[in-house]
Formats: sequence, C-alpha cells, structure tokens
Amino acid sequence: MKINTIYNGDCLDVMSRRIDKGSVNLIFADPPYNLSGHSLDLANNTTGGAFYKVNAEWDVYSQDDYIAFTHQWMDLCHDLLTENGSIYISCTQHNIGEILTTGKELGFKLNNVITWYKTNAMPNITKRTFTHSTEFVCWFVKGKNWKFEYDTVKHLNPHKTKDGNYKQMRDFLDFIELPVVQGRERIKGDDNRAAHPTQKPERLIELIVAASSNEGDLVLDPFFGTGTTGFVAAKMNRNWIGIEKNKHYAELAHKRIFGE
Ligand SMILES: C[S@@+](CC[C@H](N)C(=O)[O-])C[C@H]1O[C@@H](n2cnc3c(N)ncnc32)[C@H](O)[C@@H]1O
Repeated sequence: MKINTIYNGDCLDVMSRRIDKGSVNLIFADPPYNLSGHSLDLANNTTGGAFYKVNAEWDVYSQDDYIAFTHQWMDLCHDLLTENGSIYISCTQHNIGEILTTGKELGFKLNNVITWYKTNAMPNITKRTFTHSTEFVCWFVKGKNWKFEYDTVKHLNPHKTKDGNYKQMRDFLDFIELPVVQGRERIKGDDNRAAHPTQKPERLIELIVAASSNEGDLVLDPFFGTGTTGFVAAKMNRNWIGIEKNKHYAELAHKRIFGE
C-alpha cells in the first residue's frame, strides 16, 4: 500500500483492496451527511463562502441505502484500524443517529461526542426552528488502550487560568467554538468561490490528530474532499492516506498538500 498519497476512487473499493488491515492508527471521516436535496435552496446565493449550502450529488441517498453505506464503510474502517486505534466521525443531527447505531453494532466504544459550535453559522431565514449552529464529531475506539495525549491536548486549551497557565481538561472539550472555514484557509476555485461546500477547519483536525496519534503514525481519511486531514497530518509529522472519489476534489487536495 502507498502512504502519503491520495487515492482517487471509491472508499469502499480502496479500503477493501488497497490498504493493509490493522495498519491505521487514526481515522478522521467526514462522510456524506445525506442532507442535500431535502432543504430550502437559497436562490441567487452568491456568497460561495462561509454560508455556502451543501447540495451535492454525492450527498444524496435513500434512507435504506444510507444505512447500508454507513455500515459498509465503518466496518471497513474497523478492519483497517490497529488494535487500539481511534476513529472520529463528523456529523450533524441529520446523520448522528445512523453513525451512533452503526458504531455500537460494530463493537466500537464511544468515548466522546464533541460539539463544534459554528460561530458564524448560516442565519435561519425560515423563522420556523431554532438556528442550526452545531456539528458533532463522534470519537469511537476499537480496543481498551486507546491513545489520548492528555498533556498535548491540555496545551491546546484556549482557556487559561487567571495566571495565564494551562487549565485542566475539565475546562476544555467536548465543546469547541470555531468559525466555518473562511478567508485564506478556504480553498477557492477559479471563480474565486469556495471550491468545496464542506471544507473542515484545520484547527478541528489538529486537535484530533494531537489527541489520538503520535509522530510517524498513519492517519486515514476515506472522504478526503479538499484534503484537510492530509494537510494537517503532514504538518504534524504523521503519515496519511486520503481517499476521494471526485477527481476534481482529489486534484484540489493534491495541490493543497504538494503545491502542484
Ligand atoms: C463531507 S466531504 C469531506 C470534506 C473534507 N473533510 C474537507 O475538509 O474538505 C465528503 C467528501 O467525500 C467524497 N465522497 C463521497 N462518497 C465517497 C465515496 N464513496 N468514496 C470516496 N469519497 C467519497 C465527496 O466527493 C466529498 O468530497
């Protein structure tokens, strides 16, 4: 198998044929949420930035197909993880039910559901519900001796004591405040609009990589998108593998990580 590389293909195929079982220390998975096509479209939306709405062909499933797909890719991830590996799965209220149920079925242990509060979430123009401003990251582990780099994570705590020292962990996580990616961090297309609707913040991935891996470990992202996980993993001296089925996104990720 190749590491520090992007496989342009379907993750079910690549994970079952190209990646060694028991070889991956950490997985960050940001799968389709199956929310496209179900919600209000914003006609004439030209922001292309922080508030860009997800409405992508890769994000549409029937409910039965979505459950089957979730089971298939999470099962393959289970096989690829080392004995004490971790998997972090990004989701919203739309698919957290399927993720949690499947995780339990596969024998994963759920350690945390981290809430990401999006400080610049899309405004609620319907005035019919509370404004959606959160996403979640479910942290599952395979064995009993999972990695949690407490001292490293403690130093990432944005909240300090009155004396400016690092606080203990009870004051940080499982809640993180971060804006939806914008500005220079946002990968743009030729039209200068956001190139991908669901690019994740580097800061969120940094926290996960720091907490649940060490230098030289292998980090896998089966839904690579713009390559945020590989970009961050490389910066933090981890090895990585990305899988992305859309050729254009795979090329964007390649350019982001390798500069070409
Ligand atoms: C939610 S996005 C991931 C965004 C990524 N975290 C980032 O920061 O850019 C999901 C990605 O998975 C890809 N995808 C969907 N189904 C896939 C599959 N079966 N195999 C591989 N990639 C898939 C989509 O093309 C999309 O780019």
